[in-house]
Amino acid sequence: MNELKELFQKNREWAAAIVKEQPDFFEQLSQQQAPEYLWIGCSDSRVPANEILGLMPGEIFVHRNVANLVVHTDLNCLSVIQFAVEVLKVKHVIVVGHYGCGGVKAAVLNEKHGLIDSWLQHIQDVHSKHKPFLDELESESRLHNYMCELNVLEGMKNVCRTNIIQDAWARKQPLSVHGWIYGLSDGLLRNLSECFSSPEDIEPNYDAAIAEIKKRVNASVQKDKAARGNAQIVDQSKSPASNDQATNS
Ligand code: CO
Repeated sequence: MNELKELFQKNREWAAAIVKEQPDFFEQLSQQQAPEYLWIGCSDSRVPANEILGLMPGEIFVHRNVANLVVHTDLNCLSVIQFAVEVLKVKHVIVVGHYGCGGVKAAVLNEKHGLIDSWLQHIQDVHSKHKPFLDELESESRLHNYMCELNVLEGMKNVCRTNIIQDAWARKQPLSVHGWIYGLSDGLLRNLSECFSSPEDIEPNYDAAIAEIKKRVNASVQKDKAARGNAQIVDQSKSPASNDQATNS
């Protein structure tokens, strides 16, 4: 019965701290929840929704899975979206990725980890879709991070394609879908796209967000090329062979 008692101890301290601030907090919250946001994020222990946003219990409805995927056959995720939109009537659905995502990395590098590989194939589909412009990247870590961003945009689109969101928009329920990415190294969230608040928003806002990523990918490619060029010049000037050639010529 004493297993993991340190966690029970932490829990008691946490609850006591909240009750100290607001004595009826839990009593009130137990009556109902009315969150305005649905967070669809990664299971990664470093990306906890409430803490990152500084929100209290009751303020955000959360679904997390490995690599924050929104898959049309995933009844778990779809049920969360349906309940959040139709019963809780959240106003915002936020797909949140994070740089350095292990799931995205495993998919991009084709690492094998067992059952999870099948789940991560959805990310390989995202990679295939955007391969033409990603292929120019020389750096594996850059590819990994751009893929984390693209995975969020595809997730946003997948959320919008569900009949849950389509029906909500058809009955004029106010609902926006957002795409963010979180930096593990600075604790900050970044917006990746204008939000989608109607069916008409999806294509133009998605295209604009992809164009923005392409622009940054191109800049990275040019930067890497320039760095490689400079490194070659330095190498040649330093190498004895090039000195010899210079002397001989
Ligand atoms: Co992750």
